[in-house]
Amino acid sequence: MYINATMNKYGLFFITIFLMVLSMSFSNSFILDPPEVVYKNLCANCHGDQYEDIRGRTWIYGNSKKDIINTIKSGYSNEGMPGFADALDDQQIASLADFILKESKKAKRQEQRKFLKSSDVIQSEEMNFKIETLVDGIGIPWGISFLPNDDILLTERSGILHRYNADEGLVKIEGAPAVIDKGQGGLMDVDVHPKFEDNGYIYLTYSKKDDNDNKYTTAVWRAKLDHARLVDGKDIFVAAPYEKTRHHYGSRLEFDRDGFLYLSVGDRGKRDDNPQSLDNHCGKIHRIHDDGRIPDDNPFVDTPGAMTSIYSYGHRNPQGLVLHPFTGVLWSNEHGPRGGDEMNIIRKGGNYGWPVISYGINYSGTKFTDITHKKGMEQPEHYWDPSIGVCGLDFVSGWRYPKWSGDILAGSLRFEYLARLKMKDDQIIGEEKLLKDIGRVRDVKMGRDGYIYVTVEDPGRLLRIIPVE
Ligand code: HEC
Repeated sequence: MYINATMNKYGLFFITIFLMVLSMSFSNSFILDPPEVVYKNLCANCHGDQYEDIRGRTWIYGNSKKDIINTIKSGYSNEGMPGFADALDDQQIASLADFILKESKKAKRQEQRKFLKSSDVIQSEEMNFKIETLVDGIGIPWGISFLPNDDILLTERSGILHRYNADEGLVKIEGAPAVIDKGQGGLMDVDVHPKFEDNGYIYLTYSKKDDNDNKYTTAVWRAKLDHARLVDGKDIFVAAPYEKTRHHYGSRLEFDRDGFLYLSVGDRGKRDDNPQSLDNHCGKIHRIHDDGRIPDDNPFVDTPGAMTSIYSYGHRNPQGLVLHPFTGVLWSNEHGPRGGDEMNIIRKGGNYGWPVISYGINYSGTKFTDITHKKGMEQPEHYWDPSIGVCGLDFVSGWRYPKWSGDILAGSLRFEYLARLKMKDDQIIGEEKLLKDIGRVRDVKMGRDGYIYVTVEDPGRLLRIIPVE
């Protein structure tokens, strides 16, 4: 009797251990996978499904197998590279290091990319078009905006503001603020004051460094544009606090019809501290006057301890911000974690839930939340799983693309295409992938001339979509 009971106890114990080991090996099933599958599951999100970021790479943190192993294990959390020591074992990390070292020695993907000729007619579901390349061979382009005379302002992340028109080509504008061109930072968005013809103001977002303790933040800078020179430049918004991290800056700018300026700031990689707390500027969309003053009717002006510029919160890294051309409603898209890029309608005082609710999981494959809904938190209009690395946003308007009218355009950094989200009565009813394999799409905007403009990376280009019969 006694022996039997002990046997049973031990038996139960072993069965439990056996089941635990079994379930562990299932939940961490990539441990059994070959390196290319692990890469696809854990790394491709950021380094490219086609190894865009790996091919032909000059390694920043050393090119020995040991260096690569260290990077994969510990990561560089300040640069946005997560560590994978918990998700992968030593043997798996070593074979992954071999694999990406081998990939890095292959030719750059851009050399393999098929470039479109201006005469190529591209057939899409509802219309045919051609691509005109206006600017080619610059560094990473970030934002575009249009002057009343149709000249285009174009930022290069390394810190250059350009002005483009067909007669002069690309002209560098002097006097842009000094930026920290590291991680995801640099010179980012550009916008033109709605009354530019009266006041000459343009706005830039950039990553600003605090020289005393090597920390960084998102700042908005306003200056007057005097043909090829910026004058009287000053910061009108500097996000608090500065962080050691160099990613998730947000940075999109948009004016509404009343002249308020909206701007996005990402969570700066501090999801547990920043987005759900109103005492800082990170993981928020802000609303300010054109000179940085705070509007009296902002939602948290009377909330003790809250930053008064906040318009909405609980964001991760909003990379698109645009007013709907017909309804005047503000829309935004943002980078989710692995799975869970979102498209949102931005409501005054709204909480968009990051990181409490999400459709995504950690890059390492582990979960950080089980819930996608919560009372008091907004639901996205649309989400992408897997994440496409959504970037740039506009609605098709005007007369040049009647079949696309009212549809949403958004770029994909990760899968290198331009998404057209088909709209019906304010509902997203489907997606068409345009410009497949064009390169990482950074921004998309309707020009004042009614054409769609797109910026893509590597090499940096400014493209225009020309409809054909
Ligand atoms: C969340 C995005 C993200 C994910 C996921 C990610 N990385 Fe990274 N990784 C980065 C960033 C950002 C850097 C910093 C260098 C840069 O800016 O390109 C980096 C750097 C690296 C470096 C060093 C690069 C150098 O130049 O020295 C290696 C090696 C690397 N990653 C490998 C991997 C591998 C292997 C995986 C998958 C197991 C992975 N990464 C997953 C974002 C990511």
